[in-house]
Amino acid sequence: MTLTDSKFKLDIKQIQLDFPILSREVRNNRKLIYLDSAATSQKPQVVIDAQNNFYETINSGVHRGAYYLAELATDAHEHAREVIANFVNLKPNEIVFTKNATESLNLLSYSFLNATLKSKNDPTIDKRLILKPGDEILVTELEHHANLVPWQELCLKTGAVLKWIPITDEGVLDYSKIDSLINSRTKIVAISHMSNVLGSITDLDLISKASKSVGAFLFVDACQSVPHIPVDFHKLGADAIAWSGHKMLGPLGIGLLGATEELLEIMPPFISGGSMIETVTMSKSTFAKAPKKFEAGTPPAAEAVGLGAAVEYLQKIGMENVHNHERHLTKLMLDGLKEIKGVTIYGPVDDRDRGSTVSFALDGLHPHDVGQVLDDMGIAVRVGNHCARPIMDKLKVQSTTRASTYIYNDDSDIHALLEGIDEVFRFFGKK
Ligand code: ALA
Repeated sequence: MTLTDSKFKLDIKQIQLDFPILSREVRNNRKLIYLDSAATSQKPQVVIDAQNNFYETINSGVHRGAYYLAELATDAHEHAREVIANFVNLKPNEIVFTKNATESLNLLSYSFLNATLKSKNDPTIDKRLILKPGDEILVTELEHHANLVPWQELCLKTGAVLKWIPITDEGVLDYSKIDSLINSRTKIVAISHMSNVLGSITDLDLISKASKSVGAFLFVDACQSVPHIPVDFHKLGADAIAWSGHKMLGPLGIGLLGATEELLEIMPPFISGGSMIETVTMSKSTFAKAPKKFEAGTPPAAEAVGLGAAVEYLQKIGMENVHNHERHLTKLMLDGLKEIKGVTIYGPVDDRDRGSTVSFALDGLHPHDVGQVLDDMGIAVRVGNHCARPIMDKLKVQSTTRASTYIYNDDSDIHALLEGIDEVFRFFGKK
């Protein structure tokens, strides 16, 4: 795999060859132009091979068998944990494997619920985890449902109150009331690093300082950031981050929770059962140390190994290079969209302030119609509310069209989208 040319410019054509789906004909004898990586990314052959290789050569129960094959499988699983931890500057025992980011965020919220319920009979539960009526949980108006609904549920069950940082009409967070929104009642701040709809990036410095000043936990939904920009957990100033593997070239079915050792130590488990215990009698059980405490049942080991391969692939390219390439594509897309009459861009319109996910509307056309006509041209974009209904309410729309890029997209994909939009207008008689 040659990823760079002699000028250290990424060789995207070469990268594209690593992704088998990109050379297949998918629709109307056309190759796929995939602009929906914010929903899920495509997978390079090394990831597909790593996962298949697990099943073909070492498939067995990890952490359960005393035989050779099970040791190999366990080693591969734990090696993947090390690789992934290193990628975001955490220690391996600070990485919990889950099913997806949604489960990681539920793990956090249910652990706080369990701590609150258990504290009635268990004086050893750490007081910082106990929620009382009137305590506050702060989110933002741009969360996708995965980082909103679990906190709404936690509030309903504990009497805590959900607050949120609003977004401006330009689609960026309005920090003007941050000093009153993060106050002595705030126990948890759960906030996305990068919006999956608007591409806007959160000022985590500000949020982290404010959260720390009142002793609130800061949880960062990093689903859209870890795959696309360099992320160092310790620079975020967070207590935990959640993200998914499938948006960063890894397999479906694996998510991550990264958290400080201290937090994982005090948090009670979410799902209970085999593999997460220390002792079990008929009347009660004690639990293993993190991360095992949070990994009940047979883990998705082949998926973990596939994700490890995805991380190694991204590391070879370099996350700075990934980010710079996407920024170039984002600028191309934003500049092109601005030139097409009848297009409204939602969110920041300067590539310096945002990630590579761009939502827009075509005057007088329903996003589903836009998506359908683009699809006929082999261009895959996402249309809908992007699992973030409150943003749609704020924008006063039902849905948007969203194009999102990754390392395998090139300028020709963006030109195809822009020409495709012109064609959509013509198709519906708007030009
Ligand atoms: N958060 C995912 C997306 O934006 C579901 O498509």
